[in-house]
Parts: sequence; C-alpha cells; structure tokens
Amino acid sequence: MKLRDKVVVVTGSGGGIGAACARRFAAEGAKVVVTDKDPDGVEEVARSIGSVGSVGDITSEDTVHAVAELARRTYGEIDVWFSNAGYTGPHQGGSIGDDGLWDLSWRLHVMSHVYAVREVLPAMLERGDGYLIQTASVVALAMHPDKAAYTVTKHAALSFSEWLAATHRPNGIKVSCFCPGPMLTPMLLSEGFPADHPALRGAATPQEVAERLVGAIDAEQFLIVDSSTGPDSLRGKAADYEKWVEGMAFAVER
Ligand SMILES: NC(=O)c1ccc[n+]([C@@H]2O[C@H](COP(=O)([O-])OP(=O)(O)OC[C@H]3O[C@@H](n4cnc5c(N)ncnc54)[C@H](O)[C@@H]3O)[C@@H](O)[C@H]2O)c1
Repeated sequence: MKLRDKVVVVTGSGGGIGAACARRFAAEGAKVVVTDKDPDGVEEVARSIGSVGSVGDITSEDTVHAVAELARRTYGEIDVWFSNAGYTGPHQGGSIGDDGLWDLSWRLHVMSHVYAVREVLPAMLERGDGYLIQTASVVALAMHPDKAAYTVTKHAALSFSEWLAATHRPNGIKVSCFCPGPMLTPMLLSEGFPADHPALRGAATPQEVAERLVGAIDAEQFLIVDSSTGPDSLRGKAADYEKWVEGMAFAVER
C-alpha cells in the first residue's frame, strides 16, 4: 500500500519508533494521527508534522475509540492502524513478575490490538480494503531471557496477527506483524546497557526502522523483520526443539 493520502493511526507515536514512523509516514504524504500516553510527546510530534494528536492510555477501549473518532472527524475513514505501543518492564533477572506487570503486558501487547481491530475492521471489510499492523518483536520468534511477561505477550501478539492475516486477507485486508530486533529508542536505552554491550551492537536507529517500514508496507509483507535472527530461531526450533531450548538457556544470577 502506498501511504500517500492515507489516514494512518500510529499508537505509541509520542516517542521511539512510533514517533519516527509518524514523521516518516507524514513525509510520505499520509495523514497521521499521533497518540500516546505521554502528552509532551504527542504535542511535539503532532506539531512537527502539522497533524492532530490524542493523549491517552491505549490499553483502554475508550481511548482506542476516542482516537479513531478523532481520526474520522479530522481526516475521514482510517486506512491504516499501526498498533505499536509497548512496554518491557524493569530488569527482572529471572523473576516471574507480579500480576500488575502481566496484566499490563497483556492489555498493551494484545488487548490494545484487539480493541483497534474491533474499532476499524468493520468499515475496512465494507470497503474491502485497509491495513492492520501490529508491533511484536524478534522476541516473539525467539524469547527475551530476562522478561517472561514481555516474551509471552509478544508471542500472543504475533499469534493474533497470524490469525488476522489468515482470516481477513482473503477479504482484502492487509496485515503485517513487525518483529524487529534491538532499536535505539528510549525503551532500549533505558535498560542501562554499557555502550559496548552486544544488545546495542547493530541496533537500528528509529529513522532506519521507519524507512524499512515504509518499504514493507508498500510490499504488503506479513512478517517484517530486520535480520535473520528471528527466522533462524524459528528454523532452529522446528529442526531440533531440545537444542533450541538449550540454546536459549541463560544463567540467572541469584
Ligand atoms: N526498542 C527495541 O529494541 C524494541 C525491539 C523489539 C520490539 N520493540 C517494540 O517496538 C514498539 C515500540 O517500542 P519503542 O522502542 O519505540 O519504545 P519506546 O518506549 O521508546 O516508545 C514506546 C511509546 O509507547 C508509549 N506507550 C507505552 N505504553 C502506552 C500506553 N499504555 N498507552 C499509550 N502509549 C503508551 C510510550 O509513552 C512511548 O512513547 C514496542 O511495541 C516494543 O515492544 C522495541
């Protein structure tokens, strides 16, 4: 899909990848609605692209509805909904995490995607056109050794994308799941890794990622990855599950 003149909602676009995508998509000629729980981020990004913004917690269905209404009122029917907001949680060092973290991870990485689809899919189906994009992570194709709730809910996000693609692509709906590796955003930088840490080596800049996404959206590709790490992990898992689990093992400091 070409983004020119399309109405595009990007969640989590007050910062990180979402902000870079909002700017890049606007440069492509899209009418982008910015939304985030960070009011300063929304204000700054929306102003920089001459667009509208909405502040709210996207894990609430009311927020999702309000964002969609703002988009329709301002620009008309929504062509693309990019469910991108995410949260990794603090360093967990092998602990399971409390119910609050699990609940938030589920609501943000799965239910906010479900609410968005509920909101926009009926009109897309009527038109026989529309694009639904969900950000999961390379973690959804492998795992994050430190973060159980993040790993599990990102797997669920990928699974929801697969279900959407299988069920609605025949109806003209495009679906992509974005499964990137490390990206140089506040999320990764706040982990406090030293500059020479392997997690930062080869990490993409937000601008590089946004550029790649424009190409992947144009190609209407289902799985959007930025390295062979995820696909290699999937192949390794299918070839020898025992070895794959051993390869993922890490020593927890106690
Ligand atoms: N940075 C990485 O290395 C990396 C790697 C793989 C996947 N991801 C995924 O990419 C997506 C974007 O991550 P990022 O790196 O830009 O993170 P980020 O933390 O830099 O930006 C995320 C944005 O989402 C917003 N947000 C978080 N929770 C929200 C909520 N409940 N309601 C509304 N807005 C909310 C934040 O305020 C922030 O502006 C996430 O889904 C993340 O899981 C990131």
